[in-house]
Amino acid sequence: MPVIIDGKELAKEIRMNLKEKVEREGLKPKLAVILCGDDPASAVYVRNKSRACEEVGIKYEEYKLPATTKQEELISLIDKLNNDNEIDGILLQSPLPKGLDIQEAFNRIDEKKDVDGFNPYNVGKLTIGQDSFVPCTPYGIMKMFEKYNIDLEGKKAVIVGRSNIVGKPMVACLLSKNATVTICHSKTKDLAKEVKEADIVIAAIGRRGIVTADMIKDGAVVIDVGMNRNDEGKLCGDIDFGAASKKASYITPVPGGVGPMTIAMLMNNVVKAYENRHK
Ligand code: GUN
Repeated sequence: MPVIIDGKELAKEIRMNLKEKVEREGLKPKLAVILCGDDPASAVYVRNKSRACEEVGIKYEEYKLPATTKQEELISLIDKLNNDNEIDGILLQSPLPKGLDIQEAFNRIDEKKDVDGFNPYNVGKLTIGQDSFVPCTPYGIMKMFEKYNIDLEGKKAVIVGRSNIVGKPMVACLLSKNATVTICHSKTKDLAKEVKEADIVIAAIGRRGIVTADMIKDGAVVIDVGMNRNDEGKLCGDIDFGAASKKASYITPVPGGVGPMTIAMLMNNVVKAYENRHK
């Protein structure tokens, strides 16, 4: 049986440490979250982020915009938040309603308040190994490796999914620990062949059934970033947890794996933004 990586517990530990730091040092961090449109999953994520803020002692302000919002309106809200000296972090929840350009909006977020690390300035810094805001999901996954003493040096890591939010920044994180990294995507010729060679598999596609347990090498570390609903409406990942558990040495569950870590690392980044801005 594999070790089940307890993201829920580790996330709680990180939040508690941040809370203690915020209290001890009298920090007053503040996060502004923009939620645009009616995506139900986004509403849940944002609610969880607001609860985590409350727990850690981060002030939280939410801007709910209708699905009919125009790009200029979104940009002007970002400008307003950029210029608000009280605000340390700005998070624009993805995805946006059709017709809005999310990357243009991310580009507009002041890089010092870019707690998601999606602004090209931070993306570039991460890529060249300089201190930056590290996107929360890859950052959370790196914290899991650290906590469970999973050594990455020389290991073959295969990421399935090339999103700007997870797949691409994950490459930079893994490279910084000297892993050999492959990204697979919808045009990959032989996904099974790539995944079978992986010591570390990171599934971040957002769809069930693409990475199957028979692709997983015995003893591999399996990280599941997926957040899907199965036929009964229950939350599940991209990978069949039960079947993959028979092969993996370490595995993350869904829920209770990567999800809570993403939020904990957001809290970390907001505190970091506050500290950087008040140095
Ligand atoms: N949507 C899914 N994951 C994320 C995330 O980490 N940040 C933002 N802003 N939106 C998301």
